Amino acid sequence: MCESHRRQVWLVTESSQAGGGPRNADTNAPHADQDAEFPGQVEILDAKTREKLCFLDKVEPHATIAEIKNLFTKTHPQWYPARQSLRLDPKGKSLKDEDVLQKLPVGTTATLYFRDLGAQISWVTVFLTEYAGPLFIYLLFYFRVPFIYGHKYDFTSSRHTVVHLACICHSFHYIKRLLETLFVHRFSHGTMPLRNIFKNCTYYWGFAAWMAYYINHPLYTPPTYGAQQVKLALAIFVICQLGNFSIHMALRDLRPAGSKTRKIPYPTKNPFTWLFLLVSCPNYTYEVGSWIGFAIMTQCLPVALFSLVGFTQMTIWAKGKHRSYLKEFRDYPPLRMPIIPFLL
Ligand SMILES: NC(=O)c1ccc[n+]([C@@H]2O[C@H](COP(=O)([O-])OP(=O)(O)OC[C@H]3O[C@@H](n4cnc5c(N)ncnc54)[C@H](OP(=O)(O)O)[C@@H]3O)[C@@H](O)[C@H]2O)c1
Repeated sequence: MCESHRRQVWLVTESSQAGGGPRNADTNAPHADQDAEFPGQVEILDAKTREKLCFLDKVEPHATIAEIKNLFTKTHPQWYPARQSLRLDPKGKSLKDEDVLQKLPVGTTATLYFRDLGAQISWVTVFLTEYAGPLFIYLLFYFRVPFIYGHKYDFTSSRHTVVHLACICHSFHYIKRLLETLFVHRFSHGTMPLRNIFKNCTYYWGFAAWMAYYINHPLYTPPTYGAQQVKLALAIFVICQLGNFSIHMALRDLRPAGSKTRKIPYPTKNPFTWLFLLVSCPNYTYEVGSWIGFAIMTQCLPVALFSLVGFTQMTIWAKGKHRSYLKEFRDYPPLRMPIIPFLL
């Protein structure tokens, strides 16, 4: 409980003049409009038990949710700001860090509901772990390290060109993702729950091992239509990798460094970005295309399954992002679909 600390933890004690004028006559009225002045009390309740966890007095009207989180942390250090989800409704959406109390529809005392998001880990760490794993694991199978295919195959090399090409494509894909994570993406969220890393790594690492086992197997048979099939697949893979990278660059350019700005992405001079005319998440479209190319190249069932699972997951995300765009931007281009032009 932090009621005892209320004098120490208030943000700023504002005079009645502060915030631009006298308070509303009806201080119980919701303060959804910009000119309303927030009365200055915030109580934080546990979203599950409704137990009162904290009371902050004389809070500045312009205080943001990020500032409220910092104050809450002072009395509950185990819940650092990235772990906190503050909501207006126990089951509602989390408020954004940049939301300002004065602009929220709250009464005399703002009641916020707290949920613990669990231990957090930085997005960059998550992505680096997720992507370095498949890169490394695939190479173990490619080089046929001992205890995988039997002693007589230790450190031997496949006689099929496609196996070497597949290794180059697979490694290129994950090296590209690692470099993009470090130098291209501008994430709006600093952290994600630690438990997600176990789920995500199981997915990426597990599939990489399964695919690599079969592709690099001494009894692997090359694709049915030989070099023609491999060349076509390589072309699909390369085009989709270029497309995916182009979209990532276009998304990066939407957001100035250090900001969390979200804008409607539009096609640029780069023809690979023209897919933005038809879909909201062309980076996912190209990602799926890359894996289809890889599946055709290797003609390997686990690769086809990985493509299918990835496609399903990215379709779910693309639909969510598409819905958010429609909600957020009134002038959102009506022709766009989430991930597959005219279809899905
Ligand atoms: N094989 C698979 O199963 C699989 C699954 C998922 C992803 N991937 C790959 O990983 C890549 C990245 O995935 P992701 O889910 O992070 O992609 P994403 O949501 O499209 O985001 C890519 C980057 O662009 C930013 N961004 C997105 N929309 C924006 C907008 N309207 N305005 C400003 N910035 C915006 C994102 O910032 P925020 O932090 O704000 O989102 C993020 O930094 C994908 O393109 C794909 O290649 C592969």
